[in-house]
Amino acid sequence: MASLFSCCLLVVLLVLTGSCWARDTVAPGRPLAANETLVSVGNANFVLGFFTPPGANNTFVGVWYNKVSVRTVVWIANRENPLPGDVADNAGATLSVSRTGTLAISAGNSTVVWSVTPASKLASPTVRILDSGNLVLADALGAVAWEGFDYPTDTLLPEMKVGVDYVKRRNKTLTAWKSPSDPSPGPVVMAMDTTGDPQVFIWNGAEKVWRSGPWDGVQFTGVPDTVTYSGFTFSFINNAQEVTYSFHVHNVSIISKLGLNSTGNYGLLQRSTWVEAAGTWNLYWYAPKDQCDAVSPCGANGVCDTNNLPVCSCLQGFTPKSPSAWALRDGREGCVRSTPLDCRNGTDGFIALKHAKVPDTERSVVDMGLSLQQCRQACLRNCSCTAYASANVSGGGARGGVGAGSGCVMWTTGLTDLRVYPDFGQDLFVRLAAADLGLTSKSNKARVIIAVVIGISSLVLLFVLAGFLVWARKKKRARKTGSSKWSGGSRSTGQRYDGSGRHDDDLELPIFDLGTIAAATDGFSINNKLGEGGFGPVYMGKLEDGQEIAVKTLSKTSVQGLDEFKNEVLLIAKLQHRNLVRLLGYSISGQERLLVYEYMANKSLDYFLFGTTISIFFSGNEKNG
Ligand SMILES: *[C@@H]1O[C@H](CO)[C@@H](O)[C@H](O)[C@H]1NC(C)=O
Ligand SMILES: *[C@@H]1O[C@H](CO)[C@@H](O)[C@H](O)[C@H]1NC(C)=O
Ligand SMILES: *[C@@H]1O[C@H](CO)[C@@H](O)[C@H](O)[C@H]1NC(C)=O
Ligand SMILES: *[C@@H]1O[C@H](CO)[C@@H](O)[C@H](O)[C@H]1NC(C)=O
Ligand SMILES: *[C@@H]1O[C@H](CO)[C@@H](O)[C@H](O)[C@H]1NC(C)=O
Ligand SMILES: *[C@@H]1O[C@H](CO)[C@@H](O)[C@H](O)[C@H]1NC(C)=O
Ligand SMILES: *[C@@H]1O[C@H](CO)[C@@H](O)[C@H](O)[C@H]1NC(C)=O
Ligand SMILES: *[C@@H]1O[C@H](CO)[C@@H](O)[C@H](O)[C@H]1NC(C)=O
Ligand SMILES: *[C@@H]1O[C@H](CO)[C@@H](O)[C@H](O)[C@H]1NC(C)=O
Repeated sequence: MASLFSCCLLVVLLVLTGSCWARDTVAPGRPLAANETLVSVGNANFVLGFFTPPGANNTFVGVWYNKVSVRTVVWIANRENPLPGDVADNAGATLSVSRTGTLAISAGNSTVVWSVTPASKLASPTVRILDSGNLVLADALGAVAWEGFDYPTDTLLPEMKVGVDYVKRRNKTLTAWKSPSDPSPGPVVMAMDTTGDPQVFIWNGAEKVWRSGPWDGVQFTGVPDTVTYSGFTFSFINNAQEVTYSFHVHNVSIISKLGLNSTGNYGLLQRSTWVEAAGTWNLYWYAPKDQCDAVSPCGANGVCDTNNLPVCSCLQGFTPKSPSAWALRDGREGCVRSTPLDCRNGTDGFIALKHAKVPDTERSVVDMGLSLQQCRQACLRNCSCTAYASANVSGGGARGGVGAGSGCVMWTTGLTDLRVYPDFGQDLFVRLAAADLGLTSKSNKARVIIAVVIGISSLVLLFVLAGFLVWARKKKRARKTGSSKWSGGSRSTGQRYDGSGRHDDDLELPIFDLGTIAAATDGFSINNKLGEGGFGPVYMGKLEDGQEIAVKTLSKTSVQGLDEFKNEVLLIAKLQHRNLVRLLGYSISGQERLLVYEYMANKSLDYFLFGTTISIFFSGNEKNG
């Protein structure tokens, strides 16, 4: 009795939820009639059935959302082979599967308009619509012989892949409807191009109208705001089996799709989410979006920036190929190099273009095994290399960060379809001849600074000479009295020159012991060597208290005597000026003489140090501007 009751309850529940009448399968002998539908089991997300698009007079078998009140078709079986007439005209039409697994759409007079036959015959085949929207043909054991997701229409659903499947030998593309009343394949196609570093293109006929750019480990370089889509996970697979893109929506109750639209209003590619309360699809993202999203509006070596007017400019070191066209704001001919590369002589360098959508990678070379530094070296070694970038910024300081990331993309041709974003984007390192490297405003600034520093140093030199004369006279007197004005504190006692200028003749300039300095510089490690000064090498170091120092070693070949050295230190200390590097102390141990300066890492000039008597030392460290 109880079991009968619960059985009745179950039947009532099934009736209430509607799933009692909804089937999700087609099996041999149980075809789907034109007035029937299949509904996916689970959340009943999708419906499969016969439909006639508004304004059309033919019938298709397709999949649409069950919970979206505006019928939105996401997949069509027979978009190229419709049944003539609307659904009512096709009362006898069916979707059926044969005993061996042939899936067919037949007209009322039994003419087959569309069919798929698996490579081998199936035992007890079934056709089922899944909750993901995938129509699957499987055998009795559930082995999938054919699935709709391998043949996308115009819509990418979550978990569906667009790209190339090398195992199934399928090029999965999206193709927009010809028009809102004609689902047959139109000229607008979205496809993966696997040559070079893979990227997604949208074609309109033979014309490329949008390029995603390569996947940078996190997102497509041409869709730089992907990282801000918190409710989605994006996946890009690039291996021997497939090169595919797909997305996943975290909240299963959010209905989201990526569709290719032939109207072109708000872009051809549209990511939209369903808003039940409003009863409409809400546009979430679309492309192409702006002038710079067209494929290479600024030609080879041109940079498109929507924040500039005109939007096109040439990369540093390049000039417009056709100045007259350029003047008329037609940038498509692009730019040419001002100075040819000087490959074999090894004087070429790189400038970093920040926040870039990297150029077309169709003819690029990728090596995931190289670091960015090795990438640079590889580019320098190959005379045809014109630029390089990180192939995987994931896990690194990501976009904008110099030196971040791994993997290597190298370009060996002109850099086409290059744009920059106000934010986001990736660093692109463009190879230039030495003559063109110096044109940045930054290096101009550096030149001004160099001039100023040289000016100051000449002044200081004068002071020192004057000081020397004074000192020479004093020394004469001192020799007579046998006393010295020198006094030194030891670093280990914690005394330290505070640079306040409140020092008189009795300078309290700390003496560092050699051990402290050796520890700070990792034993004068080659890794810490900043360069070679007039007197000897200069090392970078870090004291125990965290103070960064530059240690100038005076080579043993120095002819300077101990007294002269001490007096030079004294004079430098006296002459310390706020704008110059501060002398923190010195060290004398046997033949070793060391000057310890404050290390100024963030100054425009990497650092500068006193030389012969007082001279300037420039770092050979290259900065990317
Ligand atoms: C579908 O149409 C057939 C006739 O073609 C009819 O017998 C059947 O009852 C209809 N089914 C539904 C669910 O309307
Ligand atoms: C639609 O097509 C059917 C079959 O081809 C035809 O009989 C019918 O007249 C057409 N209807 C319209 C409105 O064109
Ligand atoms: C059967 O129907 C289809 C479509 O309705 C039509 O194209 C075909 O000519 C018909 N065949 C016969 C034998 O009537
Ligand atoms: C896939 O198809 C597109 C569009 O037809 C084409 O451009 C692309 O090269 C194809 N990819 C492969 C790997 O065949
Ligand atoms: C998922 O989305 C629905 C509808 O927008 C919302 O009501 C629900 O709170 C969300 N769930 C989570 C876990 O975010
Ligand atoms: C195409 O885009 C327009 C404008 O955004 C929209 O109204 C229309 O529904 C879209 N069509 C498809 C098939 O997505
Ligand atoms: C290399 O340098 C030499 C001398 O400076 C110059 O004559 C030559 O043209 C340079 N080579 C290239 C490829 O620029
Ligand atoms: C430079 O790169 C091009 C393009 O990948 C390649 O064909 C060529 O062999 C390379 N040359 C050298 C010297 O590595
Ligand atoms: C990219 O870098 C991340 C983090 O370092 C790593 O987990 C991932 O496997 C890399 N991807 C590729 C394709 O090398």
